Amino acid sequence: MLSHVIESWVSLYANHAALRTGIEFLHIGGLVAGGGCAITADLATITAVRDRAATRTTQLQLLKKTHLIVVLGLVALGVSGALLFGADVQTFFYSRIFWLKMGLMVLLLVNGWLLLLGERQVKRGEPRAWARLHYTAVASLILWSLTTLAGAALPNIG
Ligand code: HEM
Repeated sequence: MLSHVIESWVSLYANHAALRTGIEFLHIGGLVAGGGCAITADLATITAVRDRAATRTTQLQLLKKTHLIVVLGLVALGVSGALLFGADVQTFFYSRIFWLKMGLMVLLLVNGWLLLLGERQVKRGEPRAWARLHYTAVASLILWSLTTLAGAALPNIG
């Protein structure tokens, strides 16, 4: 059953350029919107730690506003990524870069959850909460960059 679905998807994907373009756009668009928003918020968080309390409060409000765009970007990356994977399972299932990328993706999601926790701790005024948020923002910057690097390597190194 599953192999039949994959076969039909492989032939649909191979024979429709507009469909391939749409899925690639969803993948890169998810990265630009979700990743772009996340990286902007991370940089603002990293600088806010050194600023006055007033700036930090504004930063927390900005961070809250970015969550929906980042989550929608990750959903677009996940759905389009699964369709890209399904279009060439033979290549990607045996690709170390692909599984490295999936590992980075899991770390990115866990770090995103820690960022949400960090925001709550800051709101509760817990000691060193801003310092922890700073490290989580730095980790987010690194993970988005490494996942994108792994993604760019996929079609080339395989
Ligand atoms: C934060 C998450 C992700 C980022 C930043 C990301 C980024 C990228 C980038 C930059 C490319 C290269 C596009 C190109 O050169 O055409 C790519 C390709 C690819 N991505 Fe992702 N991706 C992410 C998540 C995923 C997920 C969750 C999957 C699978 C479930 C996935 C599967 C793929 C596949 C199979 C390709 C190769 C497409 C091809 O060669 O035709 N990606 N990704």
